[in-house]
Amino acid sequence: MISDAQKSGVIKFYDTHPINEVEILAKLAARGISSDVLTEDDLKDFDQDHYGGTEALDTLADIAGIRRDHHVLDVCSGMGGPSRWLAHRRGCRVTGLDFTASRVEAAKRLSQRARLDHLVDFVHGDATAMPLPASRYDALIGQESWLHIPDKAALISECVRVLKPGGTVAFTDIVTRSALDPPTEARLAAEMHTSNIASAESYAALLKKNGCAVVAHDDLSDDWKEILVKRLEMYRSLRDTTIAEFGEARFLEYDKAYSHFVGCFVGDKLGGVRIVARKPA
Ligand SMILES: C[S@@+](CC[C@H](N)C(=O)[O-])C[C@H]1O[C@@H](n2cnc3c(N)ncnc32)[C@H](O)[C@@H]1O
Repeated sequence: MISDAQKSGVIKFYDTHPINEVEILAKLAARGISSDVLTEDDLKDFDQDHYGGTEALDTLADIAGIRRDHHVLDVCSGMGGPSRWLAHRRGCRVTGLDFTASRVEAAKRLSQRARLDHLVDFVHGDATAMPLPASRYDALIGQESWLHIPDKAALISECVRVLKPGGTVAFTDIVTRSALDPPTEARLAAEMHTSNIASAESYAALLKKNGCAVVAHDDLSDDWKEILVKRLEMYRSLRDTTIAEFGEARFLEYDKAYSHFVGCFVGDKLGGVRIVARKPA
């Protein structure tokens, strides 16, 4: 279970996140693209809040075998970038689920602007108690989000419940490379709103416990070191828009938190994993 304090901490973190709808539209305007005639090809450089952008998503979707006739669930969908990209490129239906209302509303508006709202929809809800029917989705994805979820057992059991028999769960996430020392764990929880960060092995074990066969399990840690260092530079380049929207204190707070977070990857405390598993038919 997530406590009310943990939940409101994560929601506030994303309500005041440097990557947001206003910032995305400003970036597009700077490129001379009007917010009235957007496509996901325009949005894709700005609306993917995970590592490696649409290339990483395409790899994940290829391994998962996501096709046009699939209905995909994007668990912790943020502003809906990955959901839109899959619908745009593969023509599949995608439902995004997220518990930050401002992200869900932004995802809906951006999808309307990109004229993808006939293929994508967004549901406001918690990934550990999904307001969704059992055995509905052909595939389920998640990217760089589940580190915020304290109850990984409930998360994985919900993921498996909503998949059709034979369906695929495919995700990437931040994982521990060895047990975190308590001060590092406490600082990540306080600043980045992480919770019980999993190891790759514990995710695989939970999937197996829920009857799934793990079909791919890749360590992304080395690739992510470089990506994260560049991402810190990208956040610093958003200084002006972040200060204009949320004030200088929030910019400095985020910069301190993200610098420490990136240091944990460079120092081999944190890493990344991509796991794909199949629910029995
Ligand atoms: C890094 S962002 C998501 C990014 C998105 N996957 C992407 O690649 O663009 C993480 C998201 O997880 C959501 N989130 C965290 N915990 C959640 C939970 N228990 N249930 C639903 N959403 C959650 C946050 O609200 C936030 O929008």
